[in-house]
Amino acid sequence: MEIKEIVTDDLDTESFIGKQVKEISSTVGDGLAINALSGGVDSSAVTMLAHKALGNRLKTYFIENGLMREGEPERIVYLFKELSVPVEILDAKREFFDALKGLTDPEEKREAITRVFYKDVFGDLVKKSKAKHLLQGTNYTDVEETVAGIKRQHNILEQLGIDTQEQYGYKVIEPLIQLRKSGIRKVAKDLGLPKEIYSRPPFPGPALAARVIGEVTPERIETVRKATTIVEEELSHTGAFQYLAVLHQDRVTGLRAGKRDYGLQIEVRCWESKDAKVGSPTRLPHDVLEKLSERITGEVEGVVSVTYNITRKPPSTIEVV
Ligand code: XMP
Repeated sequence: MEIKEIVTDDLDTESFIGKQVKEISSTVGDGLAINALSGGVDSSAVTMLAHKALGNRLKTYFIENGLMREGEPERIVYLFKELSVPVEILDAKREFFDALKGLTDPEEKREAITRVFYKDVFGDLVKKSKAKHLLQGTNYTDVEETVAGIKRQHNILEQLGIDTQEQYGYKVIEPLIQLRKSGIRKVAKDLGLPKEIYSRPPFPGPALAARVIGEVTPERIETVRKATTIVEEELSHTGAFQYLAVLHQDRVTGLRAGKRDYGLQIEVRCWESKDAKVGSPTRLPHDVLEKLSERITGEVEGVVSVTYNITRKPPSTIEVV
């Protein structure tokens, strides 16, 4: 099916919201639907649209995959509670880490996350809940990049020829598929979501696993999680499109307490971009870079080197895996 983009400048949010709410209602009928909320602007907007359409016939889950940032599950559940939308946290850490064990190839890691998410975790939930529909926040850029073969976004299914009904036992509804991120932010704002959500920097579906080069283990995730907290604290004032920490696979020689320490490397990226299609590194002042380096090497165990990416997208991509 050909998907037609709605350009943000042409978007009438009120009529878009009305149309999507109607469509969700008529597709789901009097049945149940479920969705996963990560707290990103896309899944948050979908949650609000579906909540408007279905009320308590929507069951929203926060999948605790062990790959999220510090305190993220609790914060998101709290924010939605304030909006009277109940969200249940589902602990699936073990399933995700088991599936990622031993994998180093980026596409194999993405595929493992997709499989655990849609088949194991959701397949199970859908069976138990008897829901026939899953709502998700796929956007136009996800489709475009996956179809072009640039990077497989974890939420792309139908466009890759995957029949979810046949493979997983449920249908997928994607109300935001014609919009870019900037359009989704406008819709999210008009749906009454707080600024913390509608202006949130993007965060990838595979979460911190997209920021670990090589094998994803609980320990390596903890390292990148700590570095991410520091990067977010130090760079949120920049207003940049996205800023992130990456854990490299290679170790480098460092020096601690007068001794050789063959330690870990963290790469920092900070992006100026409109829609993630192209981007350029933010020209951060040197004292900001130095503070990042001091905090990361001082506060994150095992790290002896911090670098800053100075390459544009393309040829770089925003995430590293
Ligand atoms: P790239 O790395 O392709 O990222 O330049 C473009 C935008 O998409 C986000 N991103 C992802 N989002 N699943 C997602 O849901 C993914 O696998 C994924 N990879 C990248 C990225 O953060 C950026 O905003």
